[in-house]
Amino acid sequence: MSDGPAAPPGAGTGAGPPRSDRPVPALRLGRHRIDPPVVLAPMAGVTNVAFRRLCREFAPGGLFTCEMVTARALIERHPKTLRMITFDRDERPRSLQLYGVDPAVVADAVRMVVDEGLADHLDLNFGCPVPKVTRRGGGAALPWRRRLFAGVVRAAVGAAAPAGVPVTVKLRLGIDDDHLTYRTAGRIAADVGAAAVTLHARTLQQGYAGPVDLPAIAELKRSLPIPVLGNGNIWEAADALRMVAATGVDGVVIGRGCLGRPWLFADLASAFAGGTGRTLPALGEVATTMLRHAGFLVEWMGDEARGCADFRKHIAWYLKGFPVGGDLRRRLAMVSSLAELGELLGALDPRVPFPEPQLGEPRGRTGASARVILPAGWLDDTECADVPDMDDPLPLVEGRSAPGTGSHERFPPM
Ligand SMILES: Cc1cc2nc3c(=O)[nH]c(=O)nc-3n(C[C@H](O)[C@H](O)[C@H](O)COP(=O)(O)O)c2cc1C
Repeated sequence: MSDGPAAPPGAGTGAGPPRSDRPVPALRLGRHRIDPPVVLAPMAGVTNVAFRRLCREFAPGGLFTCEMVTARALIERHPKTLRMITFDRDERPRSLQLYGVDPAVVADAVRMVVDEGLADHLDLNFGCPVPKVTRRGGGAALPWRRRLFAGVVRAAVGAAAPAGVPVTVKLRLGIDDDHLTYRTAGRIAADVGAAAVTLHARTLQQGYAGPVDLPAIAELKRSLPIPVLGNGNIWEAADALRMVAATGVDGVVIGRGCLGRPWLFADLASAFAGGTGRTLPALGEVATTMLRHAGFLVEWMGDEARGCADFRKHIAWYLKGFPVGGDLRRRLAMVSSLAELGELLGALDPRVPFPEPQLGEPRGRTGASARVILPAGWLDDTECADVPDMDDPLPLVEGRSAPGTGSHERFPPM
């Protein structure tokens, strides 16, 4: 085990989550040892190099997944896609999520990744619920067509194997309660050589609403010969420990819980090492982290106004529960330079303690999918291996949130 996380810069700590009886062991993904076995979930529009840099500081040794890119956009060398797969020089393993529905295109993309040394770990997205994706049979719709699913995973594993790059698969439970796919998809993934499976234990129809199905995660874990990672509703380190205890998973995958709270990774690392630390930064420390995050975004984007505009969506997450007046919040939501951000944050009282009632509270989106949209006849034949119409030739993540909306509606929330 690692010696635990580096202390977050200036972060305060308080009474923490329940102590785990023994440290949670490291996770093996091919040649990579992930310790603590904690993974930053791919989140479109969020898990770029800037956010990952912050998160990595809190749990060195974890796995931090880049924003998803489409296989087609990658092989077409779309400039935005190539920029999205930026990694820090010291970032290891470099973890990238690919989306694709065509085994041949996915294989080409994986070959490009390994030939050009672009990443050290690949995850395949079979969890996306947005209609733009599922109406083409992609994302969470795809595992229903089990032969096609097998073809995509096999193609990726085959292309990655010569370079020793492990391929993992991220699944939902299925399309809805009547069309569950995780058991079959998990078995197929293991059979064709996936290194691990992550289960976001909700159906496509559930979107992000309601509790996750821990018994389903436990069942998948028991049934597969490869590591299984659990995902969904981990807001605090205690939630992660509970998931591990209830399911026996080999690791946890953290999505919305770290939005505006990258220091959650310090708590997870501590808890998985048997510690009880809990990071409760005062407002001044949160403001310092915000400025660093915005600075990293500006550096990555090479444009101060764009970097600040991209940072706007994070502001409400960071300040959730802190007493910040409506006028200041409005001005922050329109921030366009680092100096302005520093000035506005400087108006806050740095001594205000972390709002503990926020602990365990959901953040980010929490709704169900409005509609499940699938290609015509998709559910009629699970054995059909035809490749759906065509891949989306453009990256799904095209732009950034509209200035000031703080919304990620234009991204494909998975
Ligand atoms: C803004 C946002 C973007 C997301 N983008 C992706 C993505 O690109 N690929 C993916 O597999 N999942 C994506 N997800 C889903 C998360 O990876 C994760 O599975 C989901 O949020 C459930 O975990 P949580 O309860 O910890 O948030 C996204 C989620 C959010 C909130």
